[in-house]
Amino acid sequence: MRREVGQDVGVSDTEPTPANDRHQPSTTPDLGALRDLAERAARAAGTLVREGRPTRVDVSGTKSSHIDIVTEMDLASETLLRTVIAAERPNDGVLGEEEGLIPGTSGLTWVIDPIDGTVNYLYGIPAYAVSVAVVSGPPDPSHWTVLAACVHAVADGRTWTASVGGGTHQDGRPVRVNPAKQLAGSLLGTGFGYTVERRRTQARVVAELLPDVRDIRRIGSAALDLCAVASGSLDAYYERGLQPWDAAAGSLIAQEAGATVVGLRGRPADEQMTVVGPGPTVAELVRRLELLGADQDG
Ligand code: IPD
Ligand code: CA
Ligand code: CA
Repeated sequence: MRREVGQDVGVSDTEPTPANDRHQPSTTPDLGALRDLAERAARAAGTLVREGRPTRVDVSGTKSSHIDIVTEMDLASETLLRTVIAAERPNDGVLGEEEGLIPGTSGLTWVIDPIDGTVNYLYGIPAYAVSVAVVSGPPDPSHWTVLAACVHAVADGRTWTASVGGGTHQDGRPVRVNPAKQLAGSLLGTGFGYTVERRRTQARVVAELLPDVRDIRRIGSAALDLCAVASGSLDAYYERGLQPWDAAAGSLIAQEAGATVVGLRGRPADEQMTVVGPGPTVAELVRRLELLGADQDG
């Protein structure tokens, strides 16, 4: 049965304890095994997306606005991810961008973005990725814990993996964020939403920040932005409007590489705002974004 993110998935009037909480796994998960499955699933979907890309990709539908698109391959990639995960972990839930939430019974949920960077995929710009995370706890980003993750850059094969406490690896080698810099010397990444009101604010904020930083990149895949911070090819990143499937895997990958991941005004990173990078750089960026009202639309 499909449900919305955060919607309750059962009835209980007893206070949850680790022993009776249906949202917590009853045994300690094997993080290495979960990370390996995340990587195998992401690579399998990546092969499908790469080899199945026609010369001209068509838009098969739109979502939040006429520019928020979906292609046949977004749907096919999500179906493949769900099949690979279910074959090994039939009791886990899956939350995917295209098909929504199918709750499980194990306390673990896979959070998947079948193509992150669909507009790049449409135009043949080689910055799109498959993003796979596995979380424990309720299927709600404000309450879950990301346990393991993989982001696979489909076009060039770069692959980031992470598990809680196990660090981040890019193509098998450990990576770390850059040393903290002042904003004036920092290369920032950001992204833009799909609605007019949101883009107005985002354009104003970029215009205010641009003169005061080294430069700003709009790569077009939030998952790859987060991995770029992890590997030091961006100093920091911020974006308003990220959805759970955009951020789940990349946030753990950035965090395990030493990044701070927060929102504005003391909030955790969420749809309102996500700011990522070395702690002191993030602190300076958060102050600027708060003063600019970057967490408001219109
Ligand atoms: C989008 C990309 C983009 C970000 C948007 C996301 P999609 O995901 O990550 O970089 O700016 O906020 O929605 O639609 O390509 O999966
Ligand atoms: Ca996405
Ligand atoms: Ca997507």
